[in-house]
Parts: sequence; C-alpha cells; structure tokens
Amino acid sequence: MLDDKRILLIISGGIAAYKSLELIRRVREHGGKVRCVLTSAAANFITPMSVATLSEDRVYGELFSLTAESEIGHIKLSRDADLVVVAPATANILAKMAHGIADDLATTLLLATDKDVLVAPAMNVRMWQHAATQENVATLKTRNIIFSGPAEGKMACGEYGLGKMIEPQQIYQEISHYFSMPGPLAGRRAIVTSGPTYEAIDPVRYIGNRSSGKQGHAIAAALSGMGADTVLITGPTNQIDPYGVETVRIESALELHAAVLSYLPADIAVCAAAVADWRIANATDRKIKKTSHSKPPQLKLIENPDVLHELSAVGEKRPKLIVGFAAETEQIVKNAKKKRENKGCDWIIANNVSPSSGTFGGDSNVIHLLTETGTEDWPEMDKTEIANRLAKRIADHFRNISQAME
Ligand code: CTP
Repeated sequence: MLDDKRILLIISGGIAAYKSLELIRRVREHGGKVRCVLTSAAANFITPMSVATLSEDRVYGELFSLTAESEIGHIKLSRDADLVVVAPATANILAKMAHGIADDLATTLLLATDKDVLVAPAMNVRMWQHAATQENVATLKTRNIIFSGPAEGKMACGEYGLGKMIEPQQIYQEISHYFSMPGPLAGRRAIVTSGPTYEAIDPVRYIGNRSSGKQGHAIAAALSGMGADTVLITGPTNQIDPYGVETVRIESALELHAAVLSYLPADIAVCAAAVADWRIANATDRKIKKTSHSKPPQLKLIENPDVLHELSAVGEKRPKLIVGFAAETEQIVKNAKKKRENKGCDWIIANNVSPSSGTFGGDSNVIHLLTETGTEDWPEMDKTEIANRLAKRIADHFRNISQAME
C-alpha cells in the first residue's frame, strides 16, 4: 500500500500515454494520491478529462495559467509530491531533462523539483538506441534519476525492439518499492529462476531454447513488489533487471544449479527457467572446424542436474514453498500432475508451449495452477498479471500458515 504517498505524474506525448491512465488507477487503488501534468503533446493522445476523472483532481498543463499560478505555483506543485514519475517519458522529455531545458510546465517542474524522479521511457527502438538518447540517459543516471524500463517488444509503429514502456503494474511496483512499504512478503526470501540456459558445444556454438524470460522476470518483480527479498537467477535474455531485485546472470544449467544452491536457505523458490535437460559431454575449448571432420561432428549428451527436483529434496534448507513450471505440448494438466509428483515440488504451473499456443516468448499465457488442494484454471492473462496473481497467492499461502500457527 502507498499510504497517501503523493505522486506527481508527468505524462509526456507518446502512444504509451494511454497506459498512464491505468497507472493512475493502480496507484490510487493502492492508497496513493496522483496529481497529473499533461504536456501539450500528451493531450493529443489522451484527454485531460479522462486524466482528471481517474485522478479525481484537476489536471495541470499550461505553464502560465493564471488560475493555476494563483492557486498553486509551479514550484510548489513539484515540491508537494513525494515522488515525481514521468510515464511515458519520450526521447524529447529525457533530452530536455538532461540539458536543463524548461520550456513548459512539465519540464519546469522537473527542473524545479527537489524530489526523486522515476522515468518510464517509451519510444521507437532506434530513438532509444540513438547515441543522443543514450548519452542523455547516461547523464540522467549520474544524477540519480531512476529508470524503469524500457522493455523489449513489438512497438506501435510495427518495429520490434527495446523502447516499449514497461507495464503500468510494473511501474506501480517500482513506485511501491521506492517507498519500501512493508508488503505481505516482507521478511521472506525468494529465489526465482528465469530464461533459457545455453549449453556450449564449443566456444562459439551452443544449444539453447526460445524462453524469453518474461514470465520469470515478472514473477521476481511481483514478489519483490510484495516485499520479498528476491534474487533472480537468469539465463541470457533481453529482459531488463527488475528494480530492487538482485539479478544473477548465468549461462549453463550447471551454473544455474550452483547459483540456486548458493542462495539457500530461502522461503520461496519459483523455477521458471527453461533449463536444458542435457549438456554436451564432449564440448571443446576450441572451435570445431568443418575441415577436420569428414562427417558432421557427433555430439554426446549427458543429463544436467534437475534444479527443481534437487531443491525439493534438499533437506532442512528446503524452501517452504517451491513452485515449478510444466511446459507441455499435450495432455497439459495430466502431465503436469505427474511432473509435480516426480519433482516433489509444492505447486506446479502448467502451460501449453505448443507453437500454436503462441505463449512461449509471447506476452500472455494460459496457465493451470496445481496445488496440494487441486487445479485452478486461470483465464488468458498478460504475463505480468499472472506474476502478480501468483505473488498474491503465495502471500496468502504464507498468511494462512502463520494464522494456523497462532
Ligand atoms: N527444471 C529444472 N532443472 C532442469 C530441468 C527442469 O529446474 N534440469 C525445472 C524447470 O525450471 C521447471 C520444471 O523443472 O520448473 C519443469 O521443466 P520442464 O522442462 O517442463 O520439465 P522436464 O523436467 O524437463 O521434463 P520434460 O522435458 O520431459 O517435460
């Protein structure tokens, strides 16, 4: 909960501005107060009326508005907040912030504020990658501006890449993390695995898989947002490190295995990584040359340690709640039930990864949660929503245990 914390939300002019309406709702649902400033470009994307309705406050836009200045000066507006959030933050507003340009109310407030500023960039991938933007970002980071995102994905303009605004729920989580409100999982320690593993064939080649890491990263962010001290152990992905989460990068299943064990004991473990079942037994330190083989080289595979299975049987350091994933292409729930028993974990999340489902690497998922009490079929949801619902479910589980012990 945000306990009446005051957020000054600056909405700049990008297509993602419509998502800031959702952000206003999230912040208010969680007990925060939002006062909004709309740049003139943002007013082309969303109306002051919808912003005013959702924030239940007047919306500020003009620098030299006589009524606004007499009621509340622009300096006061920026000082009255507990945190300033710019979402979406366009390349233009980031550039103005970096160079101290104050030519409208939003940028004047940003120059005048004495509060921390959190920005959620949103722009086309090329604009994000442009040296000018990257230099501005680096400058702003040295001034302790907090960056939330951007994320990678398909953009409104049709291109794909880094530059999408992160989801409103994630921005909310970062805001709540900023204020470090003790969440329902405060005092709990969580380990989350995410992404694929790469199994080396030689120094340049590997066997990998298509896991994007979206679901695992979202779960780590959600658990952390609820107050859990969270470590994310991830294979190679393009996902951004969730704010406030200790992120450990690994490549192979063996590295993942070692990293997970080194973070025990923990209360919660969620194994969302798509760990390679096998690695190459005859991997070499030198690049395999085509010319030295008359036939394609024969790769010998040996089994990797099963991290989920091992965690479930680790003895007194065993996390109190272990959640695994069952990636299936057929007889989803039936196979997942068997997997839950074989692996010895407490809960398992079954999902359909057949190519037709589009879930592997996609933004949404249809899952079934198998627990000790039965199977829950969840409707198709965005991976962030799944993560939040799961984190809430985990928090409820621990609350029930503590109540039972009282
Ligand atoms: N898992 C793991 N270590 C491995 C293999 C899998 O921790 N070496 C975990 C995954 O993170 C996931 C669960 O086990 O939580 C199930 O992974 P999945 O690939 O669905 O199952 P497998 O055990 O590999 O079985 P199969 O490939 O035969 O379906």
